[in-house]
Amino acid sequence: MSVSLIILAAGQGSRMQSDLPKVLHPLGATPLVLHALRAGRVLDPEHVIVVVGHGGAAVAKVIAAEDDRVQIVTQTEQLGTAHAVEQARAALDGVGGDVVVLYGDTPFIRAETLQAMQAARAVHDVVVLGFEAADPGRYGRLVAQGDALERIVEFKDATAAERAISLCNSGVICADRATLFDLIAAVGNDNAAGEYYLTDIVALARERGLSAGVVRCDEAETLGINTRTELAEAETRFQARMRAEALENGVTLSAPETVYFAQDTYLGRDAVVEQFVVFGPGVTVESGATVRAFSHLEGCHVSRGAVVGPYARLRPGAELAEDVRIGNFVEVKNAQIDEGAKVNHLSYVGDATIGPRANLGAGTVTCNYDGVFKHRTEIGEGAFIGSSTMLVAPVRVGAQALIGSGSVITSDVPDEALALGRGRQETKPGLGKRLMDRLRAAKAAQAKG
Ligand code: UD1
Ligand code: MG
Repeated sequence: MSVSLIILAAGQGSRMQSDLPKVLHPLGATPLVLHALRAGRVLDPEHVIVVVGHGGAAVAKVIAAEDDRVQIVTQTEQLGTAHAVEQARAALDGVGGDVVVLYGDTPFIRAETLQAMQAARAVHDVVVLGFEAADPGRYGRLVAQGDALERIVEFKDATAAERAISLCNSGVICADRATLFDLIAAVGNDNAAGEYYLTDIVALARERGLSAGVVRCDEAETLGINTRTELAEAETRFQARMRAEALENGVTLSAPETVYFAQDTYLGRDAVVEQFVVFGPGVTVESGATVRAFSHLEGCHVSRGAVVGPYARLRPGAELAEDVRIGNFVEVKNAQIDEGAKVNHLSYVGDATIGPRANLGAGTVTCNYDGVFKHRTEIGEGAFIGSSTMLVAPVRVGAQALIGSGSVITSDVPDEALALGRGRQETKPGLGKRLMDRLRAAKAAQAKG
């Protein structure tokens, strides 16, 4: 059965008190709306439609950067959740299979839950995701007999008896595409909010002799973000979940509560992550690699056996092959570091290719930026770069070449050559002591007079 996804992301989120659209606020270094999108991907959707409104252009840009097959439709006026889904009608015209509706501000829905909903479609025409709320607050209430759903009543429209129901609507629904849009066409806005409620499709389905059912999930999964406080709480929860998952997957975390993950952080089995490490988006650390304390990684790949840090910074495009060493106070950006190469102390390596087993001494810098353009540095296999060398790109150092410490290298160095680019040393025998004696004598004369 094929599935399409509709993600509702048009709301203003006024309670965030922000110029940034709510669904672009980050959770685990990833905009909220991408959490919903990535969760929905497990269903292998044929079409994905995101309904945008407030800040629509900005939301569309983030979505396009993630996946250019996603279609964006605009809901100019926010007249309710049914009206929002209605905006996707044309984009899904004639498409077969089911539609799953997700909210852009509800980031914790699990893959297994969406799969359970899809499975429940074998039994029910309309499937709604519900949860037992500790505090049902203003959620829509599910009027159900066991798993059979009769209708959903919004808090504002509910009687005291209905408000006493603790089984609540998460907002996630699943139905056949044609059925869903038929039902939505019949939804009116004669209710306390004057909105077109998507939730009305349940009662409409039942009137037509169709069946509706509820799939239950843990309340934590349906947590929606409406305020900065909720976002901060969600971040805490998200980090706790990522740490637990890493530990379950066989990662060593020396102090789990000090390690911060992004939504897509991947750590292989037997990877070791020490204290106070921060992962930004797009990091893969393979099995058996070690990230030592106080390191910051984003958009990079660390292969087996590599050791990073302590105090290292890997920026986007850092590609570390097996057994690489990146040591303290080293920054790597957009650079391929080949197998067994070492950059152990106080270096900047940007826009570079470092050959296998090359060694960059302390304080080596690739001078990649001329103020306008970026240039590349290439270092061959087994080359040895002396400490405090400035490599002024574009420049190439050949395999097995040797660069004298303190050099400023501005032109290419052939394979196996020695290059020195610095002032020649002058040594004057005895002069050091004579100078010091003169200075000390001057100080003694000053103290007397
Ligand atoms: C909705 C449900 C309620 C459920 C709750 C769960 C309806 C009528 N009510 O209520 O049963 O318990 O979610 O959180 O569906 N949106 C649009 N366009 C609109 C309106 C909303 O895109 O015109 C988007 C919002 O940006 C948000 C989502 O739909 O992502 C839900 O809208 P919201 O206004 O928060 O609905 P609730 O009143 O919370
Ligand atoms: Mg809401």
